[in-house]
Amino acid sequence: MLSVTIHASTPYEVTIDRGLFHRLASQLKDYQKRRVVLVSDRKVYSIYGRELTEQLEKAGLQTMSYVAEPGESAKSFQILEDLLESMVAARIQRSDLVLAFGGGVIGDLAGLAAGLYQRGIDYIQIPTTLLAAVDSSVGGKTAINSQSGKNLIGIFKQPKAVFCDPNLFSTLEPEDFRSGLAEVIKYGVLFDQQLFERLSRGVNPEDADLEDIVAKCVGLKAKVVAEDEFDRGVRALLNLGHTIGHGIEKLSCFEIRHGHAVAIGMAMIARACVVQGLASPDTSLRIEEALEQNHLPINTEYSAIDLAEAVRGDKKADGDSIQAILIRGIGQCEIKSLPLGEFYQWIERGK
Ligand code: NAD
Ligand code: GLY
Repeated sequence: MLSVTIHASTPYEVTIDRGLFHRLASQLKDYQKRRVVLVSDRKVYSIYGRELTEQLEKAGLQTMSYVAEPGESAKSFQILEDLLESMVAARIQRSDLVLAFGGGVIGDLAGLAAGLYQRGIDYIQIPTTLLAAVDSSVGGKTAINSQSGKNLIGIFKQPKAVFCDPNLFSTLEPEDFRSGLAEVIKYGVLFDQQLFERLSRGVNPEDADLEDIVAKCVGLKAKVVAEDEFDRGVRALLNLGHTIGHGIEKLSCFEIRHGHAVAIGMAMIARACVVQGLASPDTSLRIEEALEQNHLPINTEYSAIDLAEAVRGDKKADGDSIQAILIRGIGQCEIKSLPLGEFYQWIERGK
């Protein structure tokens, strides 16, 4: 069992352990006698819902389930309203608990609902995707999407605890597992040469060191969150590849997965950094190779002009400028504010 403490305004533990799901009842015993709003999506619930409900009963928790359709469409005003109204109808109290059981979509939605309901009730994250395990379940960012772009409506709301069982990733579609690998590679590029080297050999759900890889990423994120919980400085680094990535997601009407879009964004920024003389050609080649070794895309067919237009609505755009995350080398990245027009040239150079 591996454990990482997140030193946020309300500190909590992230527990990572293969097989943890079957022992959840013992992990949740501190919460007994509370009512729990179990938020999940249909796909995840159909595989794990029955056992999870049994574990919750065993832990002495009374459960109300809210099951959304899988996919990004659950991060909408309509679903958020429906979830909150269901909680009102079930007379959920401030002392009750929300449990986010799913990928990043469910974590973002359930976390936001927990933060809004009666001005905030406790929630726990049980990530079921690699992406949620290494990124979205940790750090307290919650959000839904607006017509104009991703994650524009949200709050910071730290969970009480995160319980991660990497065995759950074995039922992911291969493309969903790979999507998570893009965020994992992001940590290597940002902070850790050794991790990057390991990832460059490719990662599979059954790998013996997957727990260590998850814990490493959570530990790296923990450092950033401890330094800048509310995203006013260094936390922006975690958006490497995301500005272009969000544009790609939006242009594809969310048909392209988050991680795949981030992978393309990261590869484009790496290439642009070479053209700008910031990084060596070897750096961008190594990033492209690591992504391809993990079956992730490194190019998009969307034009630079369409991407620039899509990026304009991103929340990282501040007036006429955008916060870009630039790569100098593996483990050496920096935040730079660029005028939107200039960022367009970076996109062109990255194509
Ligand atoms: P997701 O939640 O849509 O899950 C991907 C797919 O996998 C879904 O179809 C889901 O039903 C299925 N699934 C989940 N767990 C499964 C399992 N164990 N077995 C079988 N199928 C399973 O997507 P995601 O990639 O986990 O998360 C992407 C979302 O996370 C995006 O909305 C992104 O904006 C958000 N995000 C948030 C943060 C944050 O800090 N809050 C960080 C990164 C990403
Ligand atoms: N995923 C970006 C962040 O947590 O800041």
